[in-house]
Amino acid sequence: MLLLVVLTTLFSISSCLASSQYVASKRDLSSLIVTKVPDYVRPYVVRAYTLDGVRLGPQVYRFPVTGASSGNAFTLISTATPASTELGVLPHVHLAHYENFFCLRGRFSLWASKSNTTSGRILTPGDYGAVPYNTTHTFQILDPFTEMVGVIQPGGFEQLFYFLAQANYTSTTYAPFPQGNFTTPGGDAGTISKLQEFDVYAKLDFSPPTDFDANGVAGDAGVGVWHNGENALAGDSQTPFFVAKSYGPKYLAGGGNGTGEYFIVEPFVTATQSAGNFTQGTITMSQLPSGVKPETYSLPGHTALEVIDGLVGVRIGGFEEDVMMAIGDVVFVPANTTLSFWGEAAYSKVLYVGQGRDTLDARLMAEARSWGSAIWPAA
Ligand SMILES: *[C@@H]1O[C@H](CO)[C@@H](O)[C@H](O)[C@H]1NC(C)=O
Ligand SMILES: *[C@@H]1O[C@H](CO)[C@@H](O)[C@H](O)[C@H]1NC(C)=O
Ligand SMILES: *[C@@H]1O[C@H](CO)[C@@H](O)[C@H](O)[C@H]1NC(C)=O
Ligand SMILES: *[C@@H]1O[C@H](CO)[C@@H](O)[C@H](O)[C@H]1NC(C)=O
Ligand SMILES: *[C@@H]1O[C@H](CO)[C@@H](O)[C@H](O)[C@H]1NC(C)=O
Ligand SMILES: *[C@@H]1O[C@H](CO)[C@@H](O)[C@H](O)[C@H]1NC(C)=O
Ligand SMILES: *[C@@H]1O[C@H](CO)[C@@H](O)[C@H](O)[C@H]1NC(C)=O
Repeated sequence: MLLLVVLTTLFSISSCLASSQYVASKRDLSSLIVTKVPDYVRPYVVRAYTLDGVRLGPQVYRFPVTGASSGNAFTLISTATPASTELGVLPHVHLAHYENFFCLRGRFSLWASKSNTTSGRILTPGDYGAVPYNTTHTFQILDPFTEMVGVIQPGGFEQLFYFLAQANYTSTTYAPFPQGNFTTPGGDAGTISKLQEFDVYAKLDFSPPTDFDANGVAGDAGVGVWHNGENALAGDSQTPFFVAKSYGPKYLAGGGNGTGEYFIVEPFVTATQSAGNFTQGTITMSQLPSGVKPETYSLPGHTALEVIDGLVGVRIGGFEEDVMMAIGDVVFVPANTTLSFWGEAAYSKVLYVGQGRDTLDARLMAEARSWGSAIWPAA
């Protein structure tokens, strides 16, 4: 019976999508919010921790955006886990995937090494680390509830975690991870050396420096700017780099004529750092004033937003109702589908990922000015 309902719903959604490019007027909101990520490209919202995941040692991996759901544009990973005294994974490189680490909760250390330069950072919430192609990297989880948000471009990298999974994980209470005496899976040199087909090349001779200073920096001299100065983005698509929360470049947009909402774009990856393949960063927003309509975007590439602070409203072309999104919720918006988003709380923030170079942040930055503060104008 339930299966029949699901099948019927799926059939009507897919025929609706095929015929109308997501602009059908009578879409039920319940079909925008899903608890299983679609295996084809369509708009959807997933709530934090409602997805089933896979468990590797104590780490639970969930995939709010997959290769299948994004047409292989990118994969978005949530890793929820307790602290560990071991590395979370053995050191390795990827040759065809650009990996991005963002700290949503807790703390973790992240190391990146390339061209004989090694840098380590302790990431706290809002901090970011870029691991371009052929960069040796590893991490260690430090706090009792840590959550890493990973973006890997192109999409499909979740296949590695399905392959490595020790168990499937599901929770009727939406517990981010289970209790248990699990061994961190970083320690098996034999396994990681056999993962080349997943674009994982072990670098077992890399020994991450653990001499972190009070500012959370370890590694070679001259790579030490972190929560103590301006963090510049790399000048090319090969060099690893880190951006501490609000210590990177900032741009102010919106606030039009004293009535609109303000946006502060803090890019991590622009077309320069990704060779035009994707962009990523955060957008901080003030509350949408009452009576003001939010801007509507339609972008040539796929877009995902994850709420990382406050409360964010979204409206997606073809869906009549607005969705309110809390921290950890993700919306996926296919190319050429209209998207409006706005701050519902006084202070809200999203992490964005966009495919290509003509992306949400690029549109916002085109009308923005360089801005020295983490907060919009007080009046
Ligand atoms: C790294 O260091 C080794 C040994 O000093 C040197 O042979 C090599 O050229 C260096 N590589 C790069 C990319 O600088
Ligand atoms: C990756 O980096 C190593 C040096 O660490 C270099 O020898 C190798 O050619 C690079 N591979 C690619 C595909 O760029
Ligand atoms: C997880 O579930 C899938 C689908 O049922 C199954 O193929 C896979 O073997 C399971 N993985 C583990 C580690 O149990
Ligand atoms: C956890 O597992 C380790 C290794 O299997 C074992 O030595 C230890 O006693 C276990 N701890 C608890 C609290 O069960
Ligand atoms: C701001 O709005 C006022 C009232 O609507 C209008 O007269 C004025 O021209 C606007 N200013 C700008 C810079 O758009
Ligand atoms: C990234 O962009 C470059 C240059 O535009 C292109 O050659 C390459 O195929 C792209 N890679 C991915 C993984 O999208
Ligand atoms: C989006 O629309 C543009 C212009 O109509 C078109 O060239 C492009 O192929 C569309 N992209 C997708 C993914 O449908």
